[in-house]
Parts: sequence; C-alpha cells; structure tokens
Amino acid sequence: MANENVSIHGIWASRWVFILAATGSAVGLGNIWKFPYMAGVYGGGAFVLVYLLCIALIGLPIMLAETVLGRRGRQSPVNTLRSLAVQSAASPRWSWAAMMGMIAALLILSFYSVVAGWSLDYIIGMGRGEFAAIDGPGAGERFNGLTADPWRLTLWHSLFMLVTAFIIARGVVAGLERSLRIMMPMLFVLLVILLGYALTTGHFMEGVEFLFHFNLSEVPDGILAAMGHAFFTLSVGVGSIMVFGAYMPKKSSIGSTVITVALLDTVVALTAGLALFPIVFAAGLEPGGGPGLMFVTLPIAFGNIAMGQVFGFIFFVLVAVAAWSSAISMLEPAVAYWVERSGRSRAQITGCIALFCWVVGLGTVLSFNVLADAKFFVRDALGWHLIQWGAEGGKTFFELVDYLTSRIMLPLGGLLFALFAGWVLDREVFRAELGLRYPRLFPVVYWLLRYVAPVGVLIVFASELLK
Ligand code: PHE
Ligand code: NA
Repeated sequence: MANENVSIHGIWASRWVFILAATGSAVGLGNIWKFPYMAGVYGGGAFVLVYLLCIALIGLPIMLAETVLGRRGRQSPVNTLRSLAVQSAASPRWSWAAMMGMIAALLILSFYSVVAGWSLDYIIGMGRGEFAAIDGPGAGERFNGLTADPWRLTLWHSLFMLVTAFIIARGVVAGLERSLRIMMPMLFVLLVILLGYALTTGHFMEGVEFLFHFNLSEVPDGILAAMGHAFFTLSVGVGSIMVFGAYMPKKSSIGSTVITVALLDTVVALTAGLALFPIVFAAGLEPGGGPGLMFVTLPIAFGNIAMGQVFGFIFFVLVAVAAWSSAISMLEPAVAYWVERSGRSRAQITGCIALFCWVVGLGTVLSFNVLADAKFFVRDALGWHLIQWGAEGGKTFFELVDYLTSRIMLPLGGLLFALFAGWVLDREVFRAELGLRYPRLFPVVYWLLRYVAPVGVLIVFASELLK
C-alpha cells in the first residue's frame, strides 16, 4: 500500500470540480445526438433496455475502476497503468491498454468535432430565423444542404477544434468550472422545455411506447451497439475519466461521486429521447433517420413554438458547450502523457495532437458528400474488401471510425481496465480508494468489477462474432 503518488498537472479544489469535469465529459453529443438516433435505428425499447443494463452492470463498475486507478496513479493513464503495474509486480505492458484508449479518444474527437460543428451551423441558422414555421421536409433539406457542403463542414469543424485546443492549452480548471456550473443546469432546463413541447404534440405516448416498450422475445441486433454506447456515453474505456480521477483530491469519496455522474448522464439521455421521438412521430418522420435525427426534428419544434428560435439559439449554444466539455476530456489523456514524456510545453503538444485529430476529421467531413460512396469493409460473394466504391453494404469513413472506437476499442479498453483494477491492483488499495459510504456494498461492487463486467463484455463480443 506504500507509494502515494503526486500529480504534476495539479489537483482540483474539491470533489465538485471532479463532478463538473466528469459530468462535462460524460454529458455531450452522446446523450443528445447519438442516443436518440441509435435508439431509432435499433428499434427502441429492447435497445434502451440493454443500454440501461450495460450502464449499470458494466459501465458503472468500470467507471469506478478508472477513477480509482487515476487517483492512485496520479499521472496520465498510460503512465498510471505502467507505475501501478510495476508497484503491483505486474507487467508494464498493461500500459498498452491505456495507449489504445488514448488513441480511441483522439479518433472519437476527430468525428465528434465535425458533428459539434453542425450545432455551430445551427446556432447561426436559429439566430437568422431560418427555421420559422419549418416543416419536416424543409428541415430535412436544411440538414442535407449542410452535410452536402464540404467547405461549410470544414469551416465549423476547424472552429470547433481550434476552441477545444485553446481551452486545453490554457489549462482547464478555472474557466471550465465557472462555465459548466451555469451551462449544465441550463441545458437541462431547455431539454425539459422541449419535453414540454413534445407533450403538446399529441404523440407523447407514442414516443414513450417506442422508447420503453419491449418484448422479451425481441433480442435487439444492436446488443454490441448498446454496450458500445454505454461506454461512449459514460466516457469510459479511453482514460478520460481516469485522467480526471488523477486530479481528484485525496479525501473525496469516489463511490458516490461517480454514481452521481452516471445518473446525470442517463437522465439527460432519456430526457432527450423523450423530447425527440414525439416530435418525430408528430412530423410523420422516420424514427430510424440516423445521424441527422436531432438536427431535423428539433428545428421543427423550435420553428413552430412562440419564441422558438430564441430557445433554439440557446439550445444549440448549449449543445456546443456540452460537446466542448466532452471534447477536452478526449484530448487530456494524450496531452498529459506527452507533457510527462517530453517536457515540452502544454500548448505545443496540444497544437500537434489537435492538428492530427483535425486531419482525421476531414475524412468524416468528406464521408457525407464527396466520399459518400467510398465504403470500407465491404462483404460480398467474393469475400471481404477493404474499400470499394459505391458498394451496397460497408461503412463510410465516419461509420468506420465510429464502429472501430465504440464497438471495439472502448469495450476492449474497458475490459482491460476492469481486469487490471479487479485482478492486479491490491483489493485493499481498491477498497480504500473507493471509500464507499456504505461499506457493505463493497463486495457487490467488487464482484461486478471482477466477474460481471469482464464476462459481460466478452459475451457481447462473442455473440457478435458468431452472428
Ligand atoms: N461521453 C461523451 C458523450 O456522451 C463522449 C465521450 C467519449 C467523451 C469518450 C470522452 C471520451 O458525448
Ligand atoms: Na454521455
């Protein structure tokens, strides 16, 4: 139990700052944009049920583990795993898990920035009043017009990435804390206003039915998708939560803190879904509309209520802010690692890494227009093809990066973190760091971490391979 490590990057003033930063990381496009559209694509109820189970049984224990590891190691995830492994007489190669997570976070940032850029475009659109009395087809056209234009997408993508890099380069603590304290509650209030609008559409129960009604016989073909999204939405499996854990004060209880974050994240996602689907049904749109869902349906609501475009303007500002607070947490593991490793300035390192993500992001920009027909991993009668033009199946560049990260790298990273915390780290060290308010719960948490979470990830992987 020896060796208390210290962080060279600083320590947060209180556990509240950790809650803000971790909630800022967790609550983002994953909740407002991705969760509703995935629920739509995978048919609603059964997907949502699997998602909630994955959050509770797999995501949450791993989130606890990441925070524990981070605070114990007090370094970037890569060096945290390396030093904790050495202290536990295990192989330093455990750090490779964090290396993979770090890369996954950068890949996520590459497309996250593009989508967040859409919300910047919508801020301007709302400000200009482009959505007055808009209907379903009109909103669809507005969205398609945006994604068809690579220059416009690149502009917003660049702007989003620049601001992200700027915040991280300056060091996040003070500015982040102040803005999140105001923005997060505001985002929630606006979601509730939208929920109110959804209630007036007369299709509210259809939305509820769609999200929560399931048959036990209906095993969703999106099981891996649901699990991957549980990791994505909680920001686990990549080291983002671990790196924030590294800046957490010694005395705070990790248990209750992390559970708060996971609950807030879940509530925001469900509220977004409940606000969105009634509007989808009222407008006669398809719930399976894919990535454009939120950008098509919400403007219909905003375009048709009193003061709607003012709310719409504020709403998309808040979406952008929520996306920024997530984006910075994707950069931080890599930036902290290279600061520790090279001793160069934080600003220089941030610039280089952000540039890398920006370039990869151009692939996502083009996948919506110029390269929309470039399909990766196509399977046909002749077998697998790495890339094929205009093929029926396969994935666009955006879909490929999303798939690789959410479906493979995040669950794998999370699995390795769980195994490390559950089987390599000393049990008493884990218990002491976790500091549960109700110590009797410890065996349950520890059992979830050692058995349920790893076995869960493996079962889902296996079921997907056998399909
Ligand atoms: N949790 C964030 C969201 O739901 C996305 C994220 C993934 C952030 C991985 C950090 C790391 O939008
Ligand atoms: Na989230």
